[in-house]
Amino acid sequence: MGRLQTVYTVITMAFPTHRPRRLRRSPVLRDMVRETTLEPADFIYPLFVVEGRDVRRPITSMPGVFNLSIEHAVAEAKQAKALGVPSVILFGIPDHKDARGTQGYAREGIVQRAIRAIKDAVPELQIVADVCLCEYTDHGHCGVLEGGHVANDATLPLLAQMAVTCAQAGADIIAPSDMMDGRIHSIRKALDECSLVDTPILSYAAKYASGFYGPFREAAQSAPQFGDRRGYQMDPGNAREALKEVGLDVEEGADMIMVKPALSYLDIIHRVKERVDLPVVAYNVSGEYSMVKAAAQNNWVDGDRVMMEILTSIKRAGADLIITYHALEASKLL
Ligand code: PBG
Repeated sequence: MGRLQTVYTVITMAFPTHRPRRLRRSPVLRDMVRETTLEPADFIYPLFVVEGRDVRRPITSMPGVFNLSIEHAVAEAKQAKALGVPSVILFGIPDHKDARGTQGYAREGIVQRAIRAIKDAVPELQIVADVCLCEYTDHGHCGVLEGGHVANDATLPLLAQMAVTCAQAGADIIAPSDMMDGRIHSIRKALDECSLVDTPILSYAAKYASGFYGPFREAAQSAPQFGDRRGYQMDPGNAREALKEVGLDVEEGADMIMVKPALSYLDIIHRVKERVDLPVVAYNVSGEYSMVKAAAQNNWVDGDRVMMEILTSIKRAGADLIITYHALEASKLL
């Protein structure tokens, strides 16, 4: 009896052998052992710049995001800096679009002027220039058309020219998002020829043909007028192809690698992080943002809480930096 009792006591005391809950007992202890934490320095904040004066037009499908004329974009950039966000990414929306996206690479184009104004007002803020023709073409595709088809090689010099004009205007980082083959090489070569050897390229290397870009196309007025982008952006079912795209861009001279969208592609972020030794950036895209806002407006989720959970999960997956429309509100909470 005595012996049985001893055995019973030992079993009950020792079970469970492991108690992970011990480290969850208090907020301070939880903070101490947290593996992934966010800070404002993790974020890159997107801005949509339009022509005109005193424009601050709400984007219906993205509550809290606006089309901004240059002076408002400058004010927003100052706010980002004040909150500790080190960088903005700029998208220009011109008044006049044409088949070849001329305003995208014009020296006095909307994005080039916005870059100059922001650089002038907030010199330390790192300006990322999104390089793509879709906001500038009247057909809304990311390159020029030949026979109703987006022509890869004919698009490359235009992208290179856009990269050069943005860098000459003061952009600190060039971020091509068009998904043409060979564009990193073309852009690197063009930058170097213009003595812009120190301007880094952040390649949208693994960019998927995603339904999550819907609200962006309202914000940037860049929806394709026919067809879709599946002929150049990646198929959501593919993972090894992402690694191939990333490998090619590294070989062609990319300095940083992006995965986009973020939330449905956390596995890709993780695999890219394991594969390459360059900084990995994830784009928490418009549809991901708008879903949080819509659900929060209905009181279906706690908006701040899911925002932080989403941003944390993107960083936990391996992102060194996150492009996010939440950048300012998240920084305020941190
Ligand atoms: C331009 C570009 C797009 C986004 C970033 N750069 C749109 C697209 O490819 O259709 C989407 C960003 C977002 O949804 O927040 N090519």
